[in-house]
Parts: sequence; structure tokens; C-alpha cells
Amino acid sequence: MTQPFAVPRSRAGQTHESLRADIQAAVEPLLYGDSRAGYAVRARLESEFAASLGAKHAVAVHSGTLALFLALRACGLGAGDEVISVGNSDISTTGAIHQCGARAVLCDVLADDYTMDTQQVEALITGRTRALLPVDLHGHPANVKALREIADRHDLRIIEDAALATGAHDHGLPVGAFADIAMFSFAPYKPLGSAGNGAMLVTNDATLAERLRLLTGYGAGDALEGRQDYVAEGYNAPLDPLQAALLLVKLPHLEAWTARRRQIVAALEAGLAGTAAQTPRFRSESIPTFRSYCIRVPQQEKVHLGLRAAGIESVIHYAPPVHRYSVYAEAFSTRAPLPVTDRLAEEIVNLPVTPELSDDEVGLMIEVTRGLL
Ligand SMILES: Cc1ncc(COP(=O)(O)O)c(C=O)c1O
Repeated sequence: MTQPFAVPRSRAGQTHESLRADIQAAVEPLLYGDSRAGYAVRARLESEFAASLGAKHAVAVHSGTLALFLALRACGLGAGDEVISVGNSDISTTGAIHQCGARAVLCDVLADDYTMDTQQVEALITGRTRALLPVDLHGHPANVKALREIADRHDLRIIEDAALATGAHDHGLPVGAFADIAMFSFAPYKPLGSAGNGAMLVTNDATLAERLRLLTGYGAGDALEGRQDYVAEGYNAPLDPLQAALLLVKLPHLEAWTARRRQIVAALEAGLAGTAAQTPRFRSESIPTFRSYCIRVPQQEKVHLGLRAAGIESVIHYAPPVHRYSVYAEAFSTRAPLPVTDRLAEEIVNLPVTPELSDDEVGLMIEVTRGLL
């Protein structure tokens, strides 16, 4: 068996241990109680999550990947439509666009915070463009307020991929506030992680919320005393209630964990000052969270492997960018150049950031990274 990392990307097990009694109390009724209890738990998570963002509606679904697909479907996206997104994301983002029949058009990103370059979006809009799909990569808010102005001018929807950004704020509001629908993933390595898969779709639009519910729940209409009716062809996509129960226990701690993530990053930033590492820069209105600390370094491979050899779980995430994947050899053959996206992919390494890390472990990361640089 390979040795576990001394400084891992996640220590969720340690956090779950500290919440053991609460988790057991939350999960047991689902296993041993009324078989309808799961619906109530999921509904409670939806309302508490929406309240935590000041949003009107939230729909809990099985995964972020599926959630993006459902969001695009709820917005009526399909064959012949174009969606402007970015190349430095998970394949889930472009995959969801293509799986609903639309085509992804990639926009370059900013070298400062790695998010969609809003200045370049309008040049990519065609008569077929129907939506923008910015990504809050690593927890860095994309400037969705600026995108909202563009979207309103061109009658476009915005679906924000906030998979990695639960807990982040922008322009004085939680991320997602300027989008038609925002998606937050609960996969284990995300800022608010479950023990399996999960995601939340959040919207202030009652019609979109209703469509999302229909698509998530088989397309079923109102229950008729033991009978069934379907008003749409939907999917079986709701969040597993066991994950919902776990997330309900964890949600009240999110703010403290986000603060600790920011504290770790502040220490890393200060500790790496004066080295060849370039750390991300943020707009003054942007208050990111950090799923990891994505820095730019010369000799990416040397630094990445050196960190791992020293027991620090460095990852190179969202590189290569999606347009370099074999599956997309044809899909993006006519794309515009993406020089910043391509350059970042050759420079980034992600240092672990998880709230359980001690100051000593953060110090070790600084020492090892400085040594490698
Ligand atoms: C930016 C981004 N979008 C979407 C997803 C998909 O989320 P999930 O793993 O919940 O399907 C991920 C997962 O890593 C992601 O990083």
C-alpha cells in the first residue's frame, strides 16, 4: 500500500469523527425509521442551504455533473444552441453542455484569478448563443455581476458552476446571486463535502425551480392518492438522503471552515512571498474560498513531484484544459486561441488546503515549496 500523505488534500474523516454523535443521530432515523423520512431530510437541507445563501429556491441532486445537465435542460438548452464557458474546468462542465445537445464555446480566462475573462465574452456571442457558463475555479468567484450585464443585453441565461465555491462571496453577496441557476457540488473534496456524491442547484426564479424539481423527480406531477401522473419526461436524480443528513450536520460549520481555509491561504501567500511562485490575485469585491491553493510556478513537474515526494499531496487540477482532451479533438478544432488557459495549464500546482491542517503542516508546505523553488 502506498504511504498516506503527511499533508493530504482532505481530512474529512477527522472532521466526521469530531461530529460522530451528531452524524449518527442524523443518519439513524433514515435507516431504522419511517421510510418517508428521507424526503423531509432532503427538503430541510434544501431550505437551510437556500437560507444560508439568501436564495429563494434550492434543489438537491445526485451530483454536480448531473446538476449542470439538469440546469441547462431547465433553461431549455438543446440542439443548435451555444453555451460560452471556459477550458480550465472539469470535463463535467463541457460534458453537460454537449450531453444536452448544445455546443460549448470556450472563452479565455484571466491570469490573475483564472476565471472567465468577461472582456472577451461579447466577441464570442453569435445568433445561436443561449447561455453563459462561468466556473468559480478552485473557489475563486468569476465576475458574474459583469456577465449579468452582458447576458441581459443579449437575452442569455447564466448557469454558474460554483462546484468549488461553497462559502465564497462576490460583490457583497454569496456566489450564485447573479446567475439564473448556480450549482454547488458536495463531492468529498469540495469545500462542503458529503461522503459520496451530491450537489445543490440554487435559483431565485420560481419557474426554473419548478422545472428543476420536475426534471429531478422523474417528471412526476402532483401525487394523486396512490396513483401517478407525469407531466414531463424527467430523471431520477435527487440527492441521497443519507448524504443530505450528513450535510445538514456539516452546514452550520461551513463558515468557520471557510475562515480557516482563508487563514491557511494567507499564511501560504505570505510564506511564498519573494519566491518565483506567482500567487492568484483577486478583484477587490471578490472574497474567494479555497478548495486548494492554486499557484503558478516555473518547472511545474519538478515542484509538483517534489511536493508529493515530501508527503504533500500536490495535484495539477484542470490541466490539461478540456480542449486538449482526446475526446474533444474534433469538438474544439475550430476554437479561438486560449493563450492564458494554455499557459496556466503548464504552470499551476495546487497545494492542499483543508481546514483540519495545523499551522505546523502549513509551515512544512511553505518550507518544502520554497526549497523546490
Ligand atoms: C469545476 C467543477 N465543475 C463540476 C464538477 C462536477 O461535480 P461532481 O463531482 O459533483 O459531479 C466538478 C468536480 O470536480 C468541478 O470541479
